[in-house]
Amino acid sequence: MRALLFGPGGQLGRELQDRAAAHGVSLVLVDRAMADLTDAGAVARAVQDADVDIVINAAAYTAVDQAETEEAVAQAVNAAAPAAMARACAARGLPLIHVSTDYVFDGAGSAPWRETDPVGPIGAYGRSKLAGEAAIAEVGGRHLIVRTSWVFSPYGRNFVKTMLSLAGRPELRVVDDQHGRPTAAGDLAEALLVAARRMVETPDGPVQGLLHFAGEGATTWRMFAEAIFAAAGGAAPTIVPVTTSEYPTPARRPANSVLDCTRVEALLGLRPRPWRDGLAETLRRLAERSGDLKA
Ligand SMILES: NC(=O)c1ccc[n+]([C@@H]2O[C@H](COP(=O)([O-])OP(=O)(O)OC[C@H]3O[C@@H](n4cnc5c(N)ncnc54)[C@H](OP(=O)(O)O)[C@@H]3O)[C@@H](O)[C@H]2O)c1
Repeated sequence: MRALLFGPGGQLGRELQDRAAAHGVSLVLVDRAMADLTDAGAVARAVQDADVDIVINAAAYTAVDQAETEEAVAQAVNAAAPAAMARACAARGLPLIHVSTDYVFDGAGSAPWRETDPVGPIGAYGRSKLAGEAAIAEVGGRHLIVRTSWVFSPYGRNFVKTMLSLAGRPELRVVDDQHGRPTAAGDLAEALLVAARRMVETPDGPVQGLLHFAGEGATTWRMFAEAIFAAAGGAAPTIVPVTTSEYPTPARRPANSVLDCTRVEALLGLRPRPWRDGLAETLRRLAERSGDLKA
């Protein structure tokens, strides 16, 4: 089975490459040089020309704060490009797997968000991702949109690697009033590969629509930071819990972005593992790579 992959260089893209063969999936990579996602025409052509059974979009404009001043670019990459993918997929009868975010929710309340809950993004990034979801649904081709949250991996930039790079500091102020579910990109990649096989092998099957996938267990950034330093061992700063208002950022972030992931078990027959297990594995892999935090 062959899958076209947008965003091969990102956290999720690299984890998909590491794991695809084990699922019998051969990936055809489309990186930024081959199709910049600000160019919807190039995106459409990449789908039209590919000899594949399915398209997976792991690319996104993910700079949450920068999106506040670059909303047009975020919209192009996160909404117009997925729309172009969806149209080109529908024209060829190809299924599309697209990845979205917990930031489509406004963060109110304390209940985990279900796929059926009302959305209401509070920042430009969330608005652009929601526009992407809506555009794909509107095209009406067969698709699966998987919302995830707080993604980390040995690759690229993420909270785990940022914390490790700050291990030598005496003290760190970390936000303690935003709640979410950290997600190992490798675990998400596994789920997407299972989903991809199902969608290709059972075209009329139930694997479509909207799905939440995140590591098991809710936490705050402060508790996540403490878990990272505890699991890594060695030097660790004193973590000082702060509120969101004490740590202002250009973009507002949802206070509660905990995703309810019940549906994934029914749909894919797999259960997200605890994020602490994904964290331990990520730290192990980073250590194997001699602690190179920049790769
Ligand atoms: N990271 C998180 O905490 C988080 C949380 C919730 C949801 N998500 C979603 O999960 C998915 C995967 O995220 P991730 O963390 O793997 O993202 P990432 O590491 O930031 O990677 C993003 C990928 O998108 C590509 N890309 C960005 N702009 C592009 C453009 N104009 N043209 C072509 N490619 C472009 C990047 O290409 P280059 O390598 O060339 O830069 C990179 O390969 C995304 O849909 C994201 O919205 C992420």
